[in-house]
Amino acid sequence: MLHDNLSINQLGHLTFAGVDTVDMAKKYGTPLMLIDENRIRQRVRTYVGAMKKYFGEDAAPLYASKALCFKGIYKIVAEEGMSVDIVSPGELYTAAQAGFPLKKAYFHGNNKTDEDIAYGMDLGIGYFISDGYEEIDSIDRIAGEKGIKQRVLLRLTPGIDPHTNAKISTGKVDCKFGTPIETGQAEKYIAYTLTKQNIELMGFHCHIGSQVFDTEPFCDAADIMIKYIAHIEKALGYHASILNLGGGIGVRYVESDPYIDIDENLRLVSEHIKMRCEEFGVKMPTILMEPGRSTVADSGMTLYTVGTVKSINDYKSYVSVDGGMTDNPRYTLYGSKYTMMVANKANQPADFKCTIGGRCCESGDLLAEDIYIQKPQRNDLLAVFVTGAYNYSMASNYNRIGRPPIVIIKDGADRLAVRRETFEDMVLRELD
Ligand code: LLP
Repeated sequence: MLHDNLSINQLGHLTFAGVDTVDMAKKYGTPLMLIDENRIRQRVRTYVGAMKKYFGEDAAPLYASKALCFKGIYKIVAEEGMSVDIVSPGELYTAAQAGFPLKKAYFHGNNKTDEDIAYGMDLGIGYFISDGYEEIDSIDRIAGEKGIKQRVLLRLTPGIDPHTNAKISTGKVDCKFGTPIETGQAEKYIAYTLTKQNIELMGFHCHIGSQVFDTEPFCDAADIMIKYIAHIEKALGYHASILNLGGGIGVRYVESDPYIDIDENLRLVSEHIKMRCEEFGVKMPTILMEPGRSTVADSGMTLYTVGTVKSINDYKSYVSVDGGMTDNPRYTLYGSKYTMMVANKANQPADFKCTIGGRCCESGDLLAEDIYIQKPQRNDLLAVFVTGAYNYSMASNYNRIGRPPIVIIKDGADRLAVRRETFEDMVLRELD
């Protein structure tokens, strides 16, 4: 099986995190998102442990909560001692509602409004990651009004293209995020920030992109950033005490994707960073990283009920399910590949070639094309693996299709963490 939290039981049913998926679908209905809590905790422990072991006690991974955001996840990562990155006041509110210690949180985003900034400060957010002059001015002014000194990192673009999907590559100079180093703009931006009375500049941030399987792009980014830290020390007499290298570690969605040994990857990156710090005569900054997808992706799975199975003679077969781009828009948006199987026929051969369609009134609403699964029929269960990241958080209620519930599995026990979105929920904000 693709990951070791997936198996097949004596009934020929798919199991996930030790529970029978057919039972889960009967109990909670479909579409249904299952989350393996122990797996998330295991991933978080790997990140927290490896960062400290290889980069030093102060180093920390921040969970990029855009990957999967609901109150329960902030509770889990808080219990495991992981910090978070949030990108909007909505994520901030959710974290606050979950009782997350916001002193440890980092407020990202390329366009924070003055209201967002004030809200973050009122909730006692630890750090802002600023994305431009306007934000620096606003943070400084609002911090002054509140009588605080706000800690800030500056998002810089190192000019790296990690060669993943263009839509999820964010470290290039031509990008809406960050201030470019190579055009000389970053230096002016840093110098400007250092003039601000109510800002404590803590260091720099960069993020190269997502689904990066090699350590090389991270090492390349670190090279540029450490060389730049050395340059800024000479040019401006400022030492960056934090270097945040962003997120982006890849995840195994299909058999052809490699396994990633997170611990080993971090060890390699840390050795590279230590070497470069020595070479450039820079005191090793506190290293932060922001793993989102790799913290939660393989902890998630989605179950659908099969509806129509249509074979177009001499051409292809369409299998339609009761969810689709509303709960997982990633195939529609990025052509992302997933591994699927018919959960109640898991021990049958996967020899039926088909395209999986969602239930939206839109031809592009597909979950996969030309994949092989067990031959399905109406009311069978289709399981899609590795849906923990960027599925629920990107879900919509297009066509007034409700977002699925989230059921958390821990030590063989299931509990409802997010209930299914109802029709009443959909009209709740609509006035007569
Ligand atoms: N830090 C920053 C500043 C980011 O922009 C991102 C992702 C992350 C961390 C987390 O990256 P991860 O470890 O999850 O790859 N919706 C797209 C992904 C967009 C990611 C945007 N930024 C998808 O479904 O693939």
